[in-house]
Amino acid sequence: MAERKIRVAVVFGGRSTEHGISCLSAGSVLAHLDRRRFEVVPVGITRAGSWVLGPDDEEQLRLKDRVEPEIVDGEALTLPADPSSRQLVSLESDTVGQALSGVDVVLPMLHGAFGEDGTIQGLLEMAGIPYAGPGVLASAAAMDKEFAKKLLAAEGLEVGTYEVLRRDETTLDEARRSRLGLPVFVKPARAGSSVGITKVTDHAELDAAIAEARRVDPKVIVESALSGREIECGVLEFPDGEVTASAPAELRVDSDSGWYDYDSKYLDDDTEFDVPAKLSDEETERLRAAAVGAFRALDCQGLARVDFFLTEEGRPVVNEVNTMPGFTPISLYPRMWAHAGVDYSSLLSILLDTAVARGTGLR
Ligand SMILES: Nc1ncnc2c1ncn2[C@@H]1O[C@H](COP(=O)(O)OP(=O)(O)O)[C@@H](O)[C@H]1O
Ligand SMILES: [Mg+2]
Repeated sequence: MAERKIRVAVVFGGRSTEHGISCLSAGSVLAHLDRRRFEVVPVGITRAGSWVLGPDDEEQLRLKDRVEPEIVDGEALTLPADPSSRQLVSLESDTVGQALSGVDVVLPMLHGAFGEDGTIQGLLEMAGIPYAGPGVLASAAAMDKEFAKKLLAAEGLEVGTYEVLRRDETTLDEARRSRLGLPVFVKPARAGSSVGITKVTDHAELDAAIAEARRVDPKVIVESALSGREIECGVLEFPDGEVTASAPAELRVDSDSGWYDYDSKYLDDDTEFDVPAKLSDEETERLRAAAVGAFRALDCQGLARVDFFLTEEGRPVVNEVNTMPGFTPISLYPRMWAHAGVDYSSLLSILLDTAVARGTGLR
């Protein structure tokens, strides 16, 4: 008898500023999941946070005239936190409470707040449903650019110089400004996709940049500009627990802004990618070791993409760790693994098999 297929809920959309990117990532995931092994339930989360049965159709989850896809409505459902259920349940008035589908594992293809930050991971822990990617602590720590840097530095990884502004601080005093120098990057502490980030080259622009970042997050981080090559490295955990880094990739930005902003990430064609990056063997190994080191420093599981600046002296400085990196067709994470011989479909199977092997609870 054929083995029962593994039921995967692919969850996408969500409440964060990266709703559309999540839908784009999910579109390619749905197109590439191995349907011979996995039975797929697409679950969309609207910008308001409602869960609905989503489209299982890459065509509906594509960029159209530079406009991102969005989950607006659909059959209403919920995932009870009760671990005796492990079912998606209808919230439609005529079928309320009826089970829609059992769920063996979740692929939270969500970026940013309420997705990549430990919150949905907490819900899934409570529901007793395994999920791909890091757990609650690692997701929350990696999402928070302040605490990620603190944990990475504590494990001996090099990070840049920064200052944190809490919700009541609107500017940096002279001492903190001169500690950072110029230029600086002003960022929401817990966001992604370059949303809310400004590069500031003149202190006259600093307060406006802080206000801009604060529209996304009350906590703002101001970082000294790092120089060097921008290099990313994929980390993947296999079902037997082995953790491996891909060959690093380099991105070379040629945008008007001069840095990897939102438009150059998703809309414009002005960034060049070298997969793999042109590096010496020694540099490659140093970056791969640092990527696995960062993965372990934050207690990650499943996958992460570790982003670096490689200084002129060849030292990897960690810029950030992404616990659910982009999975769009042009995203670097799947491309780095494809280069390493793990094609997109196999990559998804590994993520899900690792999640099922690990289970939930303390581990
Ligand atoms: N300290 C920095 N020095 C130089 N460039 C930076 C720095 N911080 C960010 N950048 C540029 O901005 C981009 C987005 O910043 P990042 O911290 O990765 O935010 P996000 O989480 O939104 O991706 C980076 O890919 C890089 O091009
Ligand atoms: Mg980034």
